[in-house]
Amino acid sequence: MKKKLGLFAVAGLIALASTPSMAQFAKAEDAIKYREAAMTLMGSHFGRMGPVAKKEAPYDKEQIKANVAVLNTLAALPWVAYGAGTEGGEAKADIWRDPEGFKQAQDKFKTGLGKLTVAADAGDFDAFRVAFGEVGKSCKSCHDSYRKKK
Ligand code: HEC
Repeated sequence: MKKKLGLFAVAGLIALASTPSMAQFAKAEDAIKYREAAMTLMGSHFGRMGPVAKKEAPYDKEQIKANVAVLNTLAALPWVAYGAGTEGGEAKADIWRDPEGFKQAQDKFKTGLGKLTVAADAGDFDAFRVAFGEVGKSCKSCHDSYRKKK
């Protein structure tokens, strides 16, 4: 009896641990759609600054600043949708095997985005270009490790 209760307690703990992430999504499929939608929007808002960084389009301080603000909002979204039991999509199983590494890849991205935000707020084009490159690298390095190739 005691042993059984112990098992129930463990099962309860596991259920609790996985509740915060799953509770926001009825099914794994919903979490996958959510994080892919957030990534798609991130791709759009990051990508549209590419021509500016490449000096193919003029640097408009206010436009870049507004766009980076949107990117900051989007950048906070995907991660909660990689909770336990949401394996699938284009996400590699390594995300759930190596959560520390996945977290580090997020942190690298957030650090770069922080620099991009400072540069955009200051209207400093050179700093913007450097930070834009750093963020781009952090997207790519996470994708190289944790996103399935098409
Ligand atoms: C910490 C890891 C990580 C970082 C950082 C990251 N991504 Fe992703 N991204 C992923 C994973 C994993 C997928 C696969 C989609 C899934 O989860 O099923 C993905 C998918 C995508 C997709 C495809 C979405 C779809 O519809 O399938 C785009 C576009 C994308 N990312 C853009 C970006 C951009 C742009 C950045 C940087 C500004 C970025 N990502 C940063 C992990 C990351």
